[in-house]
Amino acid sequence: MTKKRSILVTSALPYANGPIHLGHMLEHIQSDIFVRFQRSQNHEVYFVCADDCHGTPVMIKANSLGITPEQLIEQVGIEHKSDIEGFLVAYDNYYKTHSEENKVFSQEIYKKLEQKGFISTKTISQLFDPEKNMFLPDRFVKGTCPKCGAQDQYGDNCEVCSATYNPTDLKDAYSTISGAKPILKDSLHYFFDLPKFNDFLHDYVKNSNAIPKEMANKLEEWFTQGLKQWDISRDAPYFGFEIPNTENKYFYVWLDAPIGYMASFKNFCDKNNVDFDSFFNKDSDKELYHFIGKDILYFHSLFWPATLHGADYRVPSGIFVHGYVTVNGAKMSKSKGTFIKANTYLKHLKPEALRYYFASKMTAQAVDLDLSLDDFIAKVNSDIVGKVVNLASRTAGFINKRFDGMLANEVYDNELMQKISAIKDSVRDNFDSRNYQEAIKLIMSLADEANRFIDREAPWVLAKDESQSDKLHKVCTDALNCFKALITYLAPVLPNVAHDAKEFLNDELLFENVDKPLLNHKINKFKPLFTRIEKEMVDAMIEDSKQDLIEANKENAKKDTKENTANSEYEPLENEISIDDFAKIDLRVATILKAEHVEGAKKLLRLEVDLGFETRQIFAGIKSAYKDPNELVGRQIIVVANLKARQMKFGLSQGMAMAAGAGGEQIYLLSVDSGAKNGDRVH
Ligand code: 2FM
Ligand code: ZN
Repeated sequence: MTKKRSILVTSALPYANGPIHLGHMLEHIQSDIFVRFQRSQNHEVYFVCADDCHGTPVMIKANSLGITPEQLIEQVGIEHKSDIEGFLVAYDNYYKTHSEENKVFSQEIYKKLEQKGFISTKTISQLFDPEKNMFLPDRFVKGTCPKCGAQDQYGDNCEVCSATYNPTDLKDAYSTISGAKPILKDSLHYFFDLPKFNDFLHDYVKNSNAIPKEMANKLEEWFTQGLKQWDISRDAPYFGFEIPNTENKYFYVWLDAPIGYMASFKNFCDKNNVDFDSFFNKDSDKELYHFIGKDILYFHSLFWPATLHGADYRVPSGIFVHGYVTVNGAKMSKSKGTFIKANTYLKHLKPEALRYYFASKMTAQAVDLDLSLDDFIAKVNSDIVGKVVNLASRTAGFINKRFDGMLANEVYDNELMQKISAIKDSVRDNFDSRNYQEAIKLIMSLADEANRFIDREAPWVLAKDESQSDKLHKVCTDALNCFKALITYLAPVLPNVAHDAKEFLNDELLFENVDKPLLNHKINKFKPLFTRIEKEMVDAMIEDSKQDLIEANKENAKKDTKENTANSEYEPLENEISIDDFAKIDLRVATILKAEHVEGAKKLLRLEVDLGFETRQIFAGIKSAYKDPNELVGRQIIVVANLKARQMKFGLSQGMAMAAGAGGEQIYLLSVDSGAKNGDRVH
């Protein structure tokens, strides 16, 4: 018997301002499989999550919907819970960071850090929206890049030339909330003294085994550059918790978000009589694991352990980092319909199909996982339906009809039965180390063996010969015992199938009994356990996802119109020009011959356009609205043909493609009525 472990598992807390999509589901599924597996080993396991409710984006979104942040997080919380449960992810508690428990912990931890001298203050100067009376986080300021002159760049980095800078360096900066020109304003900020934790953190990252090795190497760069003071305060208005003994200062969302793990667990413990302190006290020997995406490693491997350690709590035993989901080899795209929301998926497909597919490709490495849709259909149909469920459907009928539902009293092929035991330790170790891919490979190789056995022994032939009845009985019993083992191994991945298989086999499917065959045992009638995925279901899901985008755009357009009308924020007219001035601008009709992504450029597409008299290359900042460049090929557009060519980092841009709209996803290329020829001038 292995020692009984006590484990607390968390997934990263989804922001409460947007829907759950398949990118989130990768993590929830990964952690849920881990939890179900650990429970199958009879360990004590708790599993919590919550919505990450605080911060400016939630506040702004609620505002734009005309509701309070509390109302927004309430609505979103219900949706998130139902999406996540829809994928059979079974948290013991799915809570919210805007909770009493979290407030108490956040303030207590802060006070402790303050008492120990880890908090300092400094006045800093930041951009402020004079109309909305609020400081502007970097992502709510846009302007012209100080390096390359690209317009509409965010406050911290330029997506065209990749320069990083301070929002105060932007030219013609404007607030994306009100459109107003920001002013600089001083404010007192509270800082957490991360550098004081340098040695502790360095040791934690390098020697504690909590951080995967390849990640620890990456973190080494951060230590070399030197850890920085962490700004943990934000000024009102802010949706969050007030900092004790201050006025109008709030904790930055990332201070209280991970504390939300503790708060969610505390809320659970109080209701279920579980000893919270034994999991979080400084000397706890219980295990604490956080599943996270690679983008939030810094927070979890530096800020979070330092916060815990500084406030005399234990630190995490493991930070399990995963990569992103791609679909058909590319980033999830709204226009291609591959930005798939959890509830859109669930309208068309079974949760276990995705659980199985993700598991079959999951390792403990932080690499991206591709949901290749054709492969998804093929693999799920071939493995779950073709290899596993079919084993039972091909043999259960004989046992039920011919042997009154009783399994034989002895094994026919001992070698086959031994193959079940042979993989037991490896399957266990691979699930435990989150190398699900390898576990699934082993399980499927057992399924292949079992299917070869059935093909070889051909029970449908034995069934025709009364004298072979005994053999038929044993062969079908072996097949069903293989099926039992396969489902027992796969139970963390396929909980519903396992549940139905338990009823059918009339057995608990315990992992420790995986290699103990059921003999002389009554089974129940077989019911179909899983249906094939048809391509039409996947196509319908993609279509639906495209529809989601259209709906979202309509909503945004409505909102924009409302806001624009209310604030009269149409772009002001330029100074009057004469007809001669206008004549200086030579606009021509052109056809897009080629359109492609530009490596390293987040906003640009490279266009090759036919102007009739010549072909030109144009770099157009339209990628955010035209995610699939192929859709542009063949389209006639209007080009400023006498604009001085501009040398960009990626090549020479020989003109400008004309478009209307506010930017982002709202960029609309100009077209002409049919009949116009390439090279025609626009007057
Ligand atoms: O990146 C995110 O989606 C954050 N909401 C994750 C927070 S995880 C934890 F620290 F709260
Ligand atoms: Zn730039």
